[in-house]
Amino acid sequence: MCGIVGYIGKKNAVPILMDGLSSLEYRGYDSAGIAAMDKGQLCMSKRAGKLKILAECLKKNPVKGAIGIGHTRWATHGEPNEINSHPHYSCKSDFVIVHNGIIENHHELREKLKKEGHKFRSQTDTEVVVHLIEKLYKGNLLKAVCAAIRQLHGSFALGVISTHHPDMLVAARKDSPLIVGVGKGENYIASDVPAILKYTREVIYLDNNEVAVLTRDKVALYNTKEAPIKKKTAKIKWDSASAEKAGYPHFMIKEINEQPQVLKTILNHRIKGNRVVFEKFNISEAKLKKINNIQIVACGTAYHAGLCGKYILEKLLRLPINVDTSSEFRYRDQIITKGRTLIIVVSQSGETADTLASLREAKKKGAVVASICNVVGSSIARESDGVIYTLAGPEIAVASTKAYTAQLTTFYLLGIYLGRIYGTVSDKATKKLLGELAKVPGLMTQSLKEHKKVKKVADQYIRRYDYRLAEQLMFLGDEIWRFKDPKKALAFAQQCAKKSHSAYGKRFGDFPFLYLGRNVNYPSALEGALKLKEITYISAEGYAAGEMKHGPIALIDEFPLVVCITPQSAVYEKMLSNIKEIRARKGVVLSVATEGDKEIRKKEYSDYVIEIPKIDEFFSPLLVALPLQLLSYYIAVGLKCDVDQPRNLAKSVTVE
Ligand code: G6P
Repeated sequence: MCGIVGYIGKKNAVPILMDGLSSLEYRGYDSAGIAAMDKGQLCMSKRAGKLKILAECLKKNPVKGAIGIGHTRWATHGEPNEINSHPHYSCKSDFVIVHNGIIENHHELREKLKKEGHKFRSQTDTEVVVHLIEKLYKGNLLKAVCAAIRQLHGSFALGVISTHHPDMLVAARKDSPLIVGVGKGENYIASDVPAILKYTREVIYLDNNEVAVLTRDKVALYNTKEAPIKKKTAKIKWDSASAEKAGYPHFMIKEINEQPQVLKTILNHRIKGNRVVFEKFNISEAKLKKINNIQIVACGTAYHAGLCGKYILEKLLRLPINVDTSSEFRYRDQIITKGRTLIIVVSQSGETADTLASLREAKKKGAVVASICNVVGSSIARESDGVIYTLAGPEIAVASTKAYTAQLTTFYLLGIYLGRIYGTVSDKATKKLLGELAKVPGLMTQSLKEHKKVKKVADQYIRRYDYRLAEQLMFLGDEIWRFKDPKKALAFAQQCAKKSHSAYGKRFGDFPFLYLGRNVNYPSALEGALKLKEITYISAEGYAAGEMKHGPIALIDEFPLVVCITPQSAVYEKMLSNIKEIRARKGVVLSVATEGDKEIRKKEYSDYVIEIPKIDEFFSPLLVALPLQLLSYYIAVGLKCDVDQPRNLAKSVTVE
């Protein structure tokens, strides 16, 4: 979490830093700050809240300098106020630092430094680093930074500047991502590529325990013992336009709409004739043939893709497949057989702390590690024995959409690829499976054309609950229905609520969503619920429909909305039975069903229906995902939520 950026060159650093931070805001947006140095004078500006608050402040009180560092924060240690915002100064304000990560031994370092007379201003773990550098500085900034980080436990990506070295920016990393951008007469650091892509395509991916010293004309790299090292620069192939909104109001809706194209790209790259090809997937067939069990590990949406991956691989490989969230997996007494267990880690960012730790743990125990990753050159990609990139392009919205369907597609392809090696997927089966997959991009496009129908359902939902809420708040059912417009009814109720009732803040708290699905669409139910709660703050639960009777049925009355994922499938009848049970308890049902399904449209089953095109059940999660993403999106927009940057979340969770 947190995004850092740095610049050294001839231009004013501040607009470049602010620009970089705006593309890193997905990493955290609790507070933001920058520091720049002009003629040896350090100047800093930081504010609690989003970057735009800092931008306003900089308009009134400009800061300038040809060298600078910036930070956008997702708070871990210390509340997200101005004092705890980065950058942080040393006692004499001659060193200034930005940090992403967690310094685990900050407490003991702080106590020690305090005893030695250092004065702390914030409650952050980061501040110890700048005091440590101040303490260890003997005229050489590189030496001081190296000496300081040798004392740190935990994770860090750091940017440091000092008045003693007005032409130098020092950066270092361990377990938090950091890249160096190499320009002409100017150089950059950033947590992620989009932050600097407007300025350069030449980047160096720093590895753990590497330190970079940037001047205007040079980037020199060292290990933490100050010994010089050499690394190649990589050229970024995608352009900055793919990290911009391209006319859409939000990144999320842009990314939802990109899915047909993403799938086409994946299939074009990965299918050659009747074969699945993963170029540069460095795990040999001989190694893969020895595998007798598979463990999938991931977090969040990637975990849901992994769960679906279990259904896919089980069917295609006939091997025992286990799936776990990374935070559980890393601390379990896992059963890993050397050379026999294949771990598949799934991660959009390739930097999620728990997933990375799971990968390392599994490697230590002798597992073969493959990863399904979106961000090229990320830590997970680099540390895996073999990586399959999902080719989804940069995903900016915090709620993952196109990365999810790209991960699912990769699982189908991986299943076919491994199935050929294990002899469980024949030539004929491959042809059939690839044929079905090839239809998906077109069906996705068809499905997205119906987005207005999903919006209508979202609007109806909001309308219905605005009335309900107004009614509840008034405690006077009839009174509220005299308003023709539910918004007016709600406004009136709110007014009354302010006077007599404080429940308005609990908006929607009483109207949860329940998502139900079976078989391959059980993970779709979990993902649907996650999408909704992430961006609308409405409580939502995903459940295996067969488990409904073991708890969630107690929630059912006329208030919750039950989203039933019911495409034509082997479990269709079972889903209908579940719906009947819900209806018998006055439950409100939104069915996601196959186009042309007349049965499900009957009032005895559904209040609302969203259709998906006809597709083989096995591949249906790829299509089911889209209307569920759209439903969350339109409800969030209708409720005026911050779609791309929902509260408390961050796109890349680089702390445990
Ligand atoms: C965060 C993001 C989710 C994402 C999860 C795992 O919670 O908000 O969208 O699914 O991390 O991230 P990864 O980058 O490992 O897929």
